Amino acid sequence: MSKTILAIESSCDETSISIVKDGVHILSNVIASQIDLHSRFGGVVPEIACRAHEEAILPVLQESLDKAQLTLQDMDAIAVTYGPGLIGALLVGVSAAKSLAQSLDIPLIPVNHIESHVYANFMRDDVLDTDMPCVSLIVSGGNTLLVYVKGWGDYEIMGQTRDDAAGEAYDKVAKMMNLGYPGGPIIDQLAQKGDASLKKFPRARIKDNPYAFSFSGLKTAVLYYIEGLETYKVEDVAASFQEAVVGVLVDKTFKAAKAKQVSHIAVGGGVALNSELRKAFQAKAEEEGLRVSFPGKGLSADNAAMIAGLAYHRLLAGQVSDVSLDVDPSLPLRNWGTV
Ligand code: KG4
Repeated sequence: MSKTILAIESSCDETSISIVKDGVHILSNVIASQIDLHSRFGGVVPEIACRAHEEAILPVLQESLDKAQLTLQDMDAIAVTYGPGLIGALLVGVSAAKSLAQSLDIPLIPVNHIESHVYANFMRDDVLDTDMPCVSLIVSGGNTLLVYVKGWGDYEIMGQTRDDAAGEAYDKVAKMMNLGYPGGPIIDQLAQKGDASLKKFPRARIKDNPYAFSFSGLKTAVLYYIEGLETYKVEDVAASFQEAVVGVLVDKTFKAAKAKQVSHIAVGGGVALNSELRKAFQAKAEEEGLRVSFPGKGLSADNAAMIAGLAYHRLLAGQVSDVSLDVDPSLPLRNWGTV
């Protein structure tokens, strides 16, 4: 049966509301970014994020309905990110979702933000039957993990970061060189003009788990390197740093795909926008005879369309909640059955 779901995403610094039909047809996906508010601090300031979500949520809701040319009465369910993320930021979205679901008397669907980054890869037009099971690499500002995805709600975490997320390392390295925020896209641009062969930064190996990550040592190595120099070319440091990050991500992800004997790798999260990462994954995929996918336009970084999309499958599986739903700032990726 056809279902139209409105989803709210407010876990970090984007207020997003989207309306999606049957898990894939995006009718609207409005994203209000707070980058300008946080950039002078070099990172997301939780208090500022909460206030900005409060201010943005109603206008974003209206814009999303207008773009879809629908009204709230056309919705079959309301979905919301309930974790992981910043507690105050999540609360704004969850409170709004609860009010909407209760006043419209329709189901409330709680969605895990990490899981939806995987799902974003399955909202493209060219999805194949053989794309599931897959190995998914989620690389964002808050998370870096490798997951064996057997189906929606059926996951095995193969490894995750022991310290910084990859996006966080990009942001921190950019801050060290006073390049601005968020650092990922800036370093991505600069690296294209740099020479990565000038410095080989360390790539962490985690003894007890070949699929786990660590980026704090790399970040410190970059800091010591630039502190030890009188002048340096930011483009070269950016290129060398990026080569180390991308190298580790490619290596571990393809090892994981081999171990699980899957034919498809799905990369999601804000860092999936990185041009070098896309090139390196594509090249290696061709070499290994595997298929690699990235989310479509507007679906890599935080957005509510991926929340509404995944919510469709949760609704069909009966994974709904009532108004007692609470936020969970450190919600892990876990199998369905426990809401
Ligand atoms: O998925 P996302 O929007 O938010 C989280 O859930 O964290 O990801 C934001 C992260 C930031 O750390 C940002 O620097 C990084 O994604 N990012 C990039 C690029 N674009 C965004 N990192 C590397 N290269 C990019 N082109």
